[in-house]
Amino acid sequence: MSKDHKNPPKILIPEVRIQARVRELAAEISSDFADQELVAICILKGSFIFFSDMIRNIEVPLSCEFLGLSSYGNETVSSGEVKVTLDINEPLEGKNVIVFEDIVDSGLTLNYIMRSIGARGPKTLRTCSLLVKPKSLKAPVQIDYSGFEIGDEFVVGYGLDYQGKFRGLPYIGYFENEH
Ligand code: PRP
Repeated sequence: MSKDHKNPPKILIPEVRIQARVRELAAEISSDFADQELVAICILKGSFIFFSDMIRNIEVPLSCEFLGLSSYGNETVSSGEVKVTLDINEPLEGKNVIVFEDIVDSGLTLNYIMRSIGARGPKTLRTCSLLVKPKSLKAPVQIDYSGFEIGDEFVVGYGLDYQGKFRGLPYIGYFENEH
């Protein structure tokens, strides 16, 4: 089946389950950082929808930063090289930082993030990913808050794309003949 708008992806995780998990993760983060302040980092582009839902549910004061990274381009397999498309100019030293990812697949992007943000001297550095593909991991990563573990399906929707499309779907979808 071709990946176009005439053949919409099948539902892997429906909107209602995503929203329930967002509330649970946000409650966990709010409780772990009660009475503290956070810097929430959105990894562009894929995380922008998850990020905006999370920050509206986290109940501690936070500021938002945006880090643009890309390693897939228009391909379905990581190039292995993480490219910075937008950097953070605010100092992170001494701050409680949480990085929000839509998906950890090979782990190369998160591994890069941990090294790059870690080098900026935050007080604490946590990571939160909506989706994790445990069987695809190729690099060591630390995932403190994980939404759903999935298999090797190629997933789209809720921020995730195929060749720039499908990011606006409210659910996580997959293409039937792709898993
Ligand atoms: C995707 C996704 C993660 C990364 C995960 O980004 O948003 O950042 O890949 O894959 P990995 O664990 O194999 O590194 P992508 O490079 O597709 O850019 P985009 O978010 O702008 O779509």
